Parts: sequence; structure tokens; C-alpha cells
Amino acid sequence: MTRGRFISFEGIDGAGKSTQHAWLVGHLRRHGRTVVATREPGGTPLGEKLRSLLLAEAMHLETEALLMFAARREHVAQVIEPALNRGDWVVCDRFVDASFAYQGGGRGLDWGKLQTLTRWVLGDLQPDLTLIFDAPVAIAQQRLHAATANPDRFEKEQAAFFEKVRAAYLRIAAENPDRVRVIDATRTPDDINKTLEKIIATF
Ligand code: TYD
Repeated sequence: MTRGRFISFEGIDGAGKSTQHAWLVGHLRRHGRTVVATREPGGTPLGEKLRSLLLAEAMHLETEALLMFAARREHVAQVIEPALNRGDWVVCDRFVDASFAYQGGGRGLDWGKLQTLTRWVLGDLQPDLTLIFDAPVAIAQQRLHAATANPDRFEKEQAAFFEKVRAAYLRIAAENPDRVRVIDATRTPDDINKTLEKIIATF
């Protein structure tokens, strides 16, 4: 049995990543792949409960990071590893890079602490491919405000926070050129679909 493939989607809020996530899942299924479409925080019943807390309740930044990783531990054990072992493709809307970008970059949590949690929770597991949807913060904020009636705790953050999150994502991309592709998310959805199609065809 060949191990499945693991793709994660990342980007600041409003970059349009969730629309593209849904498109890629459909594209892979149309091409005969068995796909597990999932998301973080969440992806399991317990993880979805933790998501509700994380998106609504004010908390210490280390509590926030620990709950993200607690949800992730459950997700890896219950969903991601079993799917990859069955040979399925896992397409995840956000994964561990979001913790480095948001808790590390955005909130300023020590990168080393995040690396310790990553080793603990993931061991050797990492996505085979990570797509970072990148757009200037002003554009992402405009899209977010147009599309979101009730912003959550993260979506309510100011532009300066998202500048730091974006910079952290770009740092992650620069440090992991074999795994990470940065997608220019200012283009039309159709153009982005074509880019994704090409990336997947040679992946
Ligand atoms: P998001 O994918 O933006 O959900 P939606 O599109 O439904 O609004 O994810 C929710 C938020 O969680 C997002 O603002 C980023 C945040 N987040 C972190 O801060 N750290 C993490 O490790 C993860 C996975 C998400």
C-alpha cells in the first residue's frame, strides 16, 4: 500500500484559501483520488469544540498555542495518519505553519517553543506540499470585510497583526523551498485554479 499524500493550505484571513481548498478537493476527486478534506483548528469532534473556544474566547497566547496543538494532536491521530496509511490524499485547510504564522509571527510567541510542540505533536509528519495564498493585507482585509458578517477573534485583528502573520508565512516559504509554494492570491479564482492544476500535475 502506497502512503497517501498530504497537502496543506495557508494564508492570512481573506486571501481566498478556503475557496481554493474546496476547488482542489473537487479537482482531485474528479481525477479519481480518494480525498480526505479537513481543516484546522478542527477536523475531529473534539477539535471542532476546541475551534469554537479558540475563535471566540480571549486567552493567554500560550494557552492559544497549546489548544491549537492539542486539537492538532487529536487530528493527526484520528484522521490524518489513518488516511495517509490507507493511501488517501489529505487536503487540510491550515496546518502547523498557521501556528508559526499566527501565534509566532502575529502574537510573538517564541519560535523555539513552537518547534518543541511541533516535534512533540508531529514527530516526522509534515505536509508533502504546502500552498501559501499570499495577498497584500489591505486586499485581504477588503475581501474579509465584504464576505464576513460576524468576524471571529482572529478576523477582528488589526492590519498590523496580519502584516506580521504574512511576513512569517513568507519566512516559512523562504526556509522551506522544497515543500512550500507561494501563490499570488490577488489573481482571479480561474487563474489560481490553473496554477494549482499545474502544481498538482507535476507533484
Ligand atoms: P480559518 O481557516 O481562517 O477559518 P475560516 O476561513 O472559517 O474563518 O481559520 C480560523 C483561524 O484560526 C484563522 O484566523 C487562523 C487561526 N489559526 C491560528 O491562529 N493558529 C493555528 O495553528 C491554526 C490552525 C489556525
